[in-house]
Amino acid sequence: MQVIETIDGLRSARRALRGRVGVVPTMGALHDGHLALVEQARQDNDAVIVTIFVNPTQFAPGEDFASYPRDLQRDVALLQGAGADFVFTPTPALMYPPGFQTYVKVDQVTQGLEGDRRPGHFRGVATVVAKLFNLTQPDVAYFGQKDAQQVVVLRRMVADLNFPLEVAVIPTVRESDGLAMSSRNAYLTPEQRPAAGVIYRALVAAAQAYEEGERTPAHLRQVVKSVLKTEPLAEVEYVALNDPTTLVGVHEASEHPLLLSLVVRVGKPFLLDNCLLPWALNTRAGLSATLGV
Ligand code: PAF
Repeated sequence: MQVIETIDGLRSARRALRGRVGVVPTMGALHDGHLALVEQARQDNDAVIVTIFVNPTQFAPGEDFASYPRDLQRDVALLQGAGADFVFTPTPALMYPPGFQTYVKVDQVTQGLEGDRRPGHFRGVATVVAKLFNLTQPDVAYFGQKDAQQVVVLRRMVADLNFPLEVAVIPTVRESDGLAMSSRNAYLTPEQRPAAGVIYRALVAAAQAYEEGERTPAHLRQVVKSVLKTEPLAEVEYVALNDPTTLVGVHEASEHPLLLSLVVRVGKPFLLDNCLLPWALNTRAGLSATLGV
């Protein structure tokens, strides 16, 4: 496995590759969720490029850009084990040199949910991912279900800007109590960590209600909120039901699949999670067919 720090180095490594190339864009602080993306990329492709870049433009002032967990040595060792061929680790100065002024703005699907909670976030994500696609020229790019709106935004960008690649969505990898793996889980104290398990129990309760025939969005949200309420350390930021293709909010009962997403604060971190309803859609095939365009 080769670690590449320059754009020229990446371009010449990419030029030498033949066959299908998979890319896994990350911000490092890797966990088993990232490694599942790399392992899937390994199975599907002839070569795998992983990028590690804590992207300053997707953090608002006051967010955790400076303190975001970073451990390149550990990440590189994990990626070697997972079968990556190349790891691209640019600096902010390389990605955003002086004079940089071109951004990618995806309109409607960046509104609501994380787009409202983190203004400017998806402009930063879309911009850096467009740059990473141009640099790595993959056939397939791998992203996790946990950041479902990010998937919808990037699929829209890929369709609208004619990037010649497929966006693959891999189901959320969970801890034994169901907590979605996330680099920001590291912010949880030993007291807060068990409390965060309530998030998965809330999603499962909604999925069960849906299975039993509940379709009214307000009732499904109430099921989620009543489970979250049982945990005093959990502060609900939002619980939302949206159309998984357009992300338009859903307020009337219907038989169309739903994206149930929530953000809950436990101590310092805001923890994101989601599922598709019906629950059976939370597979790679179900997500790929349902989430975004
Ligand atoms: O999901 C992430 O880790 C980031 O948003 C991404 C896609 C690597 C862009 O910086």
